[in-house]
Amino acid sequence: RRVEWSPAAAEKQGFRHYMLKEIHEQPRAIRETMLGAGVGADDVRFDGLSLDVSACARIVMLACGTSFHAALIGRSLIEGLARIPVEVDIASEFRYRDPIVRTTDLALAISQSGETADTIAALKEAKQRGAQTLAICNVLGASLSRVADQVLYTHAGPEISVASTKAFTTQLTMMVLLAIHLGRRTGHLTAERAKALVDGLQDLPAHIDNLLAASAAIRIVARRHQGARDCLFLGRGLCYPVALEGALKLKEISYIHAEGHASGEMKHGPIALVDGNMPVVVLAQRGPGYGKVLSNLEEVRARGGKIIAVATLGDHTIGDLADDLILVPDVAGELQPILASIPLQLLAYHFADLKGTDVDQPRNLAKSVTVE
Ligand code: G6P
Repeated sequence: RRVEWSPAAAEKQGFRHYMLKEIHEQPRAIRETMLGAGVGADDVRFDGLSLDVSACARIVMLACGTSFHAALIGRSLIEGLARIPVEVDIASEFRYRDPIVRTTDLALAISQSGETADTIAALKEAKQRGAQTLAICNVLGASLSRVADQVLYTHAGPEISVASTKAFTTQLTMMVLLAIHLGRRTGHLTAERAKALVDGLQDLPAHIDNLLAASAAIRIVARRHQGARDCLFLGRGLCYPVALEGALKLKEISYIHAEGHASGEMKHGPIALVDGNMPVVVLAQRGPGYGKVLSNLEEVRARGGKIIAVATLGDHTIGDLADDLILVPDVAGELQPILASIPLQLLAYHFADLKGTDVDQPRNLAKSVTVE
């Protein structure tokens, strides 16, 4: 009997694709990203980082693709926990609108590869206009790290699959860590609340392991909606960018047309698309906007849309409204985006794998885009 062996298969460690392997590496990647930062009981110190927080009037975040979605979540986290105003710009747009940058601004570029040309150029532009610069990057010594005054590293390890998964959730982890760091220094985040968030972060890897165990069930959901040509993703608050990322993941690898929207915007257009052939993935985490999301769900249901709900464990209301229900552990609102992302990654993966696309190397896409 011939034994088939290839270096590529060995590196996938028994997983069919790098993407699936990388999805499963997230508990470790998040743990290592936390180890790389100086996480104390109720503070995050970041050895070597020196930011004069009192002199920082505003943060301008610059990023592309999945990293842009991490930045959108980072904005809410930093504004919420540290009360520092944050703007987020798509790196490829920033330079072309004569941006207002002040010397009291901190420009923060987020990039997995650190090689995305638009992100590097945007950070250079901010630097030239006098901002302090910081990069969050996953690759040691990447080009972006040579442009930025300071760098914080996510420790996701090499990401091979074009569709970003573990890099995204480690960026989100870094956003929480940075928001805690800043919040403790502006004085808006109490030690007690910081401790609760740090404890919550420590619990995430175990929660993710549990979510990964639902992969087979999520494959069944994907199979049920296999014929869909379009798909909507809806979310509110911190889970709105998760909806954008869920849609991006699905379109990148399965070529199904997908759009993410803030669920409150549905009545301003997207609802016109809803019919019986349209799966609608709704992020319905418990929290301030929960009631509103439920009424959005009812609107979708009234138009025959098929609802795939991602909700909080212990939610006994939503089951009646949803066709498919994926439950996520109940964690602090700031940490929900990390957990809610996991089933959406698996959903995109299984849609694509069932369709038989080239999951790790989707057509027309590159892992890092080094042209502007
Ligand atoms: C490409 C990749 C995406 C990634 C984006 C930004 O489009 O396919 O997965 O999110 O670039 O990459 P970066 O390395 O800057 O995070």
